[in-house]
Amino acid sequence: MSLGKIIHKTNIDLSKRIDKQKVPEHVAIIMDGNGRWATKKGLPRSFGHNKGVSVLKEIIKASKKLGCKVLTVYAFSTENWTRPTKEVDFLINLFSEVLKTEIDEIHQEFIKLKFIGDLTPFPETLKKIIYSSESLTKNNNSFLLNVCVNYGGRQEIVKVARELALKSYSGEIKPNEVNEELFNSELLTQGIKDPELLIRTSGEKRISNFLLWQLAYSEIYISDVLWPDFNEFEFLKAIIDYQSRNRRFGGIESLPKESFEDSQYSS
Ligand code: FPP
Repeated sequence: MSLGKIIHKTNIDLSKRIDKQKVPEHVAIIMDGNGRWATKKGLPRSFGHNKGVSVLKEIIKASKKLGCKVLTVYAFSTENWTRPTKEVDFLINLFSEVLKTEIDEIHQEFIKLKFIGDLTPFPETLKKIIYSSESLTKNNNSFLLNVCVNYGGRQEIVKVARELALKSYSGEIKPNEVNEELFNSELLTQGIKDPELLIRTSGEKRISNFLLWQLAYSEIYISDVLWPDFNEFEFLKAIIDYQSRNRRFGGIESLPKESFEDSQYSS
């Protein structure tokens, strides 16, 4: 489907409103609302997760087509273990099944797949599929898909602090050499640009322990749509909203350099 065909119920062609020069390189998504979507329809929660997978496929294609380079999705948080065992088992099995059925297409699309999080507690079968998928796609460079599983932002920050403390203890680094750059180099996302945009679906207005360090300056877009109902049209709405923002990174509105001298502050 070409961008020009994203005309939904409202009859608005959103693709015409996208500024190709201002497409975010890295988009992070909290895919929320699978359970509520299913419950609203009188279906088991698992139906929401299944539908969520097809939405994810649509959004990977849409973001790649738009010119984004990295998509990072929150598929399983460190807190998700507290769900009923049946749901946790279902999700673990879903990850394996999706990887088995989709990995060839992912590879054909030159997508590099990376799992971010502590894989230790997952069954060996899932770990094996994850490692082989990462290995198969490791040289692909058209697009990077990061899937966060058993991931927690605080846990990641603690891990970095521990690594740096150990390096300092062994004399590899001096304590006063610890800075943002060094911290970045120990993150699970090391080498990946921070997301310019975070999208959260289902109307919840929380970060929920997702990429706490990396989202420091990201624009946040909350969609009221539940993840299984999210689609390319809603994604483009998020991109257009992002493009309307004035990203100041704590400074003032971007001005040409010389305008400081020209401004009211010059003597
Ligand atoms: C949040 O909805 C969604 C999840 C915890 C799971 C998301 C996982 C997928 C879409 C599958 C992705 C698969 C791969 C291989 C990447 P929720 O259950 O928290 O919904 P609720 O807030 O309505 O209960």
